[in-house]
Formats: sequence, C-alpha cells, structure tokens
Amino acid sequence: MSEVVSALADPEERDAEASVRPKRLGEFIGQHRVREQLDLLLRSAVRRGSAPDHILLSGSPGLGKTTLAMIVAAELGSGLRITSGPAIERSGDLAAVLTSLAEGDVLFIDEIHRIAKPAEELLYSAMEDFRVDVVVGKGPGATAIPLDVEPFTLVGATTRAGLLTGPMRDRFGFVAHLDFYEPDELEQVVTRSSRILGVPVAEDGAVEIAGRSRGTPRIANRLLRRVRDYAEVRADGIVTREVARAALRVYDVDELGLDRLDRAVLTALVSSFGGGPVGLSTLAVAVGEQPDTVEEVCEPFLVRAGLLARTPRGRVATASGWRHLGKTPPNGIFGSGAPPAPDLFGLES
Ligand SMILES: Nc1ncnc2c1ncn2[C@@H]1O[C@H](COP(=O)(O)OP(=O)(O)OP(=O)(O)O)[C@@H](O)[C@H]1O
Ligand SMILES: [Mg+2]
Repeated sequence: MSEVVSALADPEERDAEASVRPKRLGEFIGQHRVREQLDLLLRSAVRRGSAPDHILLSGSPGLGKTTLAMIVAAELGSGLRITSGPAIERSGDLAAVLTSLAEGDVLFIDEIHRIAKPAEELLYSAMEDFRVDVVVGKGPGATAIPLDVEPFTLVGATTRAGLLTGPMRDRFGFVAHLDFYEPDELEQVVTRSSRILGVPVAEDGAVEIAGRSRGTPRIANRLLRRVRDYAEVRADGIVTREVARAALRVYDVDELGLDRLDRAVLTALVSSFGGGPVGLSTLAVAVGEQPDTVEEVCEPFLVRAGLLARTPRGRVATASGWRHLGKTPPNGIFGSGAPPAPDLFGLES
C-alpha cells in the first residue's frame, strides 16, 4: 500500500523531521489549550527554580508529542534524556538511567504504555519520592539498596492513553491530550516548513496540501516534501495549487487525503456490498488486505472523516462516503439526514 499518508514515521523520515521541528513553545502551531497550560507550568517552574510536575502527552502518531517533550527541556533550559518503554526491558536499565540524571533534567519516555511491569513499579517511587530501590541478589538473600534520584521531570508520551495503568496515570501532575489539527493550522505548518526548507509555496498550494493531511502535521510535512520533488522536476519549483494537485495525484492522495487502500475499502463497501452493513473480514478479503490493516490503518480515518461508520451489524458507508465516490446515496442511509434504517443498529425487526 502507499505509505504517503501513513501517520507513522520510519527512521529516515525522523531525520527529515528534525529539521522542521519547532524548538520553542512559541513556534509550536495549534493545540492552544495545551500550549497555554504548558506555558504556565513551565514558567512557574522556572520562576521557582524547581522541576515542574511530571507531564503526560497523549495523542495519535505525528501530532507533536516528541516535539513537545523536546520543547519542555528547551524552555526549562534543562538537559534531556530520551528513552522508550520498549527499550527498558529490565528494571536495572531504568535504575541506571534514573540515577544518572542531573538535578532538573527532563527524562522523556516515549511509548510509556509499553514499559515492563517491574520497571514501571520502580518508576513509581522515582516519580513520587525521587528514590529507587535497587534489588541486589536473588531469593532470601536479596537486599534492596535505596538510591537517591535527583529531582527530575518525567515527560511520558503515549498513543494509547487507555493502556496506561491507573497508578501510572495518577503520578503525572499534568496530562495533555493532543487533538487532530484544523486545516488552517496545518496550512501554517506547511508554510513554516516551506520557509525552513526553502521551498517556494503559494498560499493556495499550502491550502491544498493542508486539506489532504488528515489533521496530522507529520503528514503535512511529508506531502510538502513529495510535492516539492514534483515541483522541482516537473514544474518551475514553485508549489502552486495546480502543482500540488498534480503531484498528489501521482502519489494517489485524493482531496480528503485518502490513499488507494482507503478508497478501495470505501469503493468495495459501496459498489460490492451496496453500502453495507458488511463484516470486517469480508470487507478485508474484498480489498485483499488483512482485517487488522483495514481496521487499524484505514478505518480510523474513514470514520473520523465521516465516510464510514461501524455498527453492530458491520461496516456501512455514510451518505458522505457515497458522495465522496461521486455516487448518490440511497434514501434513508446513515448520515443523509433521514433516520437511519433500524437494522443498522442490530435491532432485529
Ligand atoms: N504543532 C506543531 N507545529 C509544527 N510542527 C509540528 C507540530 N506538531 C508536530 N509537528 C511536526 O510533525 C512531525 C511529527 O511530530 P512528532 O514527532 O512530535 O510526533 P509524535 O506525536 O511524537 O509522533 P509519534 O507518536 O509517531 O512518536 C515533526 O516533524 C514536527 O516538526
Ligand atoms: Mg514521537
């Protein structure tokens, strides 16, 4: 499948991202509430000269969690240590990191919901009492050696806040949830990145890219890079609306940011199954994909865009879904304004 509108980033892309990553809170676009709250939290900590509360950032991939974690350290003028849940296999690994922190350091743990249980428990005491008990030896002879940890700020990031345990969540003094971005905010992201990359982008070109970026800055930046390639090779280097449209046609990204597989799912639903309801596995077979891929990669965006709905009886195309494919939705269909057919809700008639 085409990866151009995936919200996930591979290692190479992470390098490309570093160059356009906002470094300070003032450069961070959108997320006004979170930004204001963080601003207060960080300013007051700086004023008091102490480490701020631990910070949890949750939100879908590519919305700015890593960016904000780095900004926290920059605004505090503190050192930053970066690790991730999956990288911490044994509690000893974590103890080594914690005891090497300097006063006021920021420790960023990405994918914190994937941290191993024993390490998680060690983290509790570090977060709460700035102390860890390192167990030496095994069985009856094992002893716990208490070690001090310098006051630090933990910044945890997760795409799956629901998977965090209660005790973990409770130990964060500040919890921020990042939402998908509005088109005008993504337009600002595109404009800002184009300036940094030195790509001339006309206003209508930025609007065009923003509208196809699925509410996600990472996708906006990636589409900008692909459109720049096209503009340099096939046009005069300037990203206008026409150039953006032509480029995104080459990459199979449509007006709403749907790629080939998203469209295949919607088309199968409408054309082969009369708009549904149809079960996930049947739909997956129809497009030649794994059910997991359809469920985790395509559906969240199709649902959010209001093109597809999940019902107890199966997947259905909404009226907007029909229209997006240039078809007239049948009367009484989901989302057409008329009351939906009762069987969509699994009420046996
Ligand atoms: N508010 C923003 N303003 C400008 N650029 C942003 C903003 N948020 C994210 N970006 C850009 O989007 C890209 C992805 O952001 P980031 O790496 O912080 O996402 P993430 O939430 O950590 O994703 P993941 O869950 O995959 O780790 C970066 O290149 C960053 O520059
Ligand atoms: Mg990240």
